[in-house]
This record gives sequence, C-alpha cells and structure tokens, in this order.
Amino acid sequence: MKVAVLASGRGSNFQAIIEASENNELPNVSIELLIVNKKKAYAIERAKKHKIPFYLVESDNKERKLFESEMIEILEKNDVDFIVLAGFMRILSPLFVNKYNNKIINIHPSLLPLFPGSHAHKDAIEAGVNESGCTVHFVDEGVDTGPIILQESISIDKEDNEETLAEKILPLEHKLLPKALNLLSSKN
Ligand code: GRF
Repeated sequence: MKVAVLASGRGSNFQAIIEASENNELPNVSIELLIVNKKKAYAIERAKKHKIPFYLVESDNKERKLFESEMIEILEKNDVDFIVLAGFMRILSPLFVNKYNNKIINIHPSLLPLFPGSHAHKDAIEAGVNESGCTVHFVDEGVDTGPIILQESISIDKEDNEETLAEKILPLEHKLLPKALNLLSSKN
C-alpha cells in the first residue's frame, strides 16, 4: 500500500507511523511522501530526518479547488493509493473525499461520534464525561463522521484539564494509528 501522510503541524502521529514502519510493524505499507499545508509544520523536520519526500502545498488564501488539485497532482504522480490524515487541519471537499473513497483515514482525539471538530479535548472536559480516547476512522464528506475503524479509551480524572487530557490521549493515538494502518494494509 503506497501511503501519503497529510499533516499541518507537530507531526507526532506521522512520527509514530515512521517508527512503526522502521520497526517492520507495517510490512505492507510504504510511506511514499508527506504533504503539509503549513510551511512551519514540524512534520517537515521529521520527513527530512527519515528521508521521506515532502511537499508544501500552502492552503492559506488559496481556493480549495486549487489547493486540492495541487495535492492530487502530487498523489497521482507518486501512485499513492492511500492517505493518512495525521493532524491535518483542513477540511477536504466532497470531490476529493469521493475520489479517494474509503482510502483516507483520520486520527481524532475523542471517542467519536462524541466531540468531533477541532476542540475535542476541551469539549470532553466541559461535558464532564469520565472517559475519552481516540478514534481512527474513514474520512467521508462530514467532519469526523466517517465509519469508525478502531478506538481506544482512557478515563478522565477530576483533576484533568484540556492539556492533561491531550497528554493522556496522545500516546494512545501513536499506537492506534499504526495499528489501523497495519490492519487495513494486511491482506485478509
Ligand atoms: C492529534 O491529537 C490528532 O488526533 C489531531 O491533531 C493532533 C495532531 O498531533 N487530529 P500531531 O501533529 O500528530 O502531533
């Protein structure tokens, strides 16, 4: 499976995939390239360090259609057949999503369908729930609404806040995303 990772920032989930791949935990996955939409994305440094080709496709002040066609050109040139959103903070159009139907997955820091969107930790804390976690799901036309592949949960303590919850969930994400990728790339 020829995989492209799309990221916007820190890229710790990208790093988790790189490490799983380097440790032979993703035998059917080849990480072909990284696309970032922000030039300051730290994910770029990780790509450089591990000699993974990376492309900056800036999204600011650019029409979505143009932004996505630039990405599609890169994906097609490199024969990418699977896309992992790893902290990619840009909503993809139905056109893009349908082109890669069931070929795009995303990692989200909540137990979907609870707390979709970009404030998942804050929303979980404010809702007063006593557990949260992370979800890997297929990307459909909605925001964090696609079919769920895997989830992992943790308990929320009374002392937890947005930051401590994020710190608790992140290591789970780093396990769940490679696990899902391995599952989806395994033949039978
Ligand atoms: C993660 O919490 C992920 O679930 C969310 O954005 C964050 C990205 O972190 N979608 P990183 O860039 O992978 O470190």
